[in-house]
Parts: sequence; structure tokens; C-alpha cells
Amino acid sequence: MESPFKPDVLKGKVALLTGGGSGIGFEISRQLGLHGASVAVMGRRKPVLDSAVAALHLHGIPAIGVEGDVRKRDDVVRALESTIKRFGRLDILVNAAAGNFLVPAEDLSPNGFRTVIDIDSVGTFTVCHEALKYLKKGGPGKEPSCGGTIINISATLHYTATWYQIHVSAAKAAVDSITRSLALEWGTDYDIRVNGIAPGPIGDTPGVSKLAPGDALSSREQMPLFKLGEKWDIAMAAVYLASGAD
Ligand code: COA
Repeated sequence: MESPFKPDVLKGKVALLTGGGSGIGFEISRQLGLHGASVAVMGRRKPVLDSAVAALHLHGIPAIGVEGDVRKRDDVVRALESTIKRFGRLDILVNAAAGNFLVPAEDLSPNGFRTVIDIDSVGTFTVCHEALKYLKKGGPGKEPSCGGTIINISATLHYTATWYQIHVSAAKAAVDSITRSLALEWGTDYDIRVNGIAPGPIGDTPGVSKLAPGDALSSREQMPLFKLGEKWDIAMAAVYLASGAD
């Protein structure tokens, strides 16, 4: 599908994406790059990162991969420092790293619950917190009056209740709340625009294949448009939200 945006709408911008090497995160990496941004991708699995970066390079997108876990503050600091060292600035931060598995609440250990909260919610906060000095107005490569942008990827599971997703629903509800709090505080103080994207079921992602195995067809039939969302839809929303970044 053809992008509705100008191909250079993000020219000169630099993006860091956690979980940007696969699934929805990779499609966002790719589309930010195709619209002119340089891209740093952070993830836990080196082979996944390597193939993501190779694919971005094939498109002519300047890209680096940084191995790391958003649960480890040192890894987050290193990913940000590598981004600045390579590209000199940071304009767009996308928090797409997430953990997920299906489990009935009675079978989920407190540590299992905590693990997903640590990745999705605490991880999102940690990355935002460490990125603030680069994203705020007057930061490296920034005008004194213009900050960057943050996009947090959550979900729609917690809008009502979703079977066997108590941990992820709680974690994504916290992500939405973090988005609102930072939009208020950092928008006011630092001119950073903080937004969230909450994808429903998106076809051809680990989320759908892992969480609704063999169920994609019935998911499709429950959609008003009789189709699942596509990674492209989410990536275009991200390009739109990132395109105002200065
Ligand atoms: N069912 C129930 N509990 C589970 C579980 C499952 N499928 N997977 C992990 N847990 C529990 C473990 O039992 C452990 O709790 P315990 O110590 O009380 O036994 C806790 O979670 C931590 O498990 P561990 O394997 O050490 O976690 P990890 O840090 O290696 O990885 C995930 C956990 C969630 C990140 C892992 O499932 C994963 O790699 N997922 C891929 C990311 C993903 O799904 N992305 C798509 C997002 S839509």
C-alpha cells in the first residue's frame, strides 16, 4: 500500500525503537526509515536484530541494532548512547518492547505477573526517563523551543476484560497511564509530544499467532470490516504522530 505521507516527511530525524526488530515494532522501524528517519533498533535477540538491520539497510535506511533488555537500565542507557554516538541526536522514541503469554490467572505466579509488568510498564518508563535529556527542547541537535516525540505502543485488552491476559492487561493499562502523565508533564515542561497507539488484533504478528493460534479467522469475522488490522496501519499512525517532531 502506498503511504499517504511525503517520503521525506521525517528527513533528518533519528528514531530509537525498543522491540523494533520484529512484529509491529519492525514495521514501524521500516516505515519511519522509508519516510527519511535514521533508525536505531533495540531488542534482546541478536539474530532478530541483525536481520532487521540488514533489511533496513536493503531499503537504504541508515540503521543500527543495539542488543539489550528494557528491564536493565544499563542496557537502556547504552542503547541511547549508541544512538547519539552514531546519529548525533534523538527525535523519536517508540516503546514497542512487550512480553506476552496466555495463562489463566490462577496458574500465573506473582513472578510471571511481575515479569510482564517489568517489561511493558517499568520498561517503558525507564526508556522514557533515560531518553528525556536527549528528547527535550535544547537537547542535542534540538532547537531551544522544540522537543522530540514519544510513542508508546499499548493494546486494547484492558478496555474491558480479556481471557488469560490479566498480566498484559494490567501492564498495558499502566502504559496508557504513563503516556498521559508524561504528555502532561513533559509536554508542558519540555515541549515533548507523548502519544500512545493501542492496536487491536493485528494480522501476521507474534501477538496474534501466539495469543489466538488458529483463531485469526474467527477474529476476522468479529471485526466490523471483516478483516484484521495490518502492521502497516499501525506504522502509518506512528509516521503521522512522529511527523510533527522537531
Ligand atoms: N505461562 C505461565 N507463566 C510463564 C510463562 C507462561 N507461558 N512464561 C513465563 N512465565 C513465568 C515464569 O514461570 C516465571 O515465573 P516463576 O519464576 O514464578 O516460575 C516468570 O514468568 C519469568 O519467566 P522467565 O522465563 O524467566 O521470563 P523471561 O524473562 O525469560 O521471558 C517473556 C518472559 C514474557 C518475555 C517470554 O515469554 C518471551 O520471551 N516472550 C516473547 C515476547 C513476546 O511475546 N512478544 C509479543 C508481544 S505481543
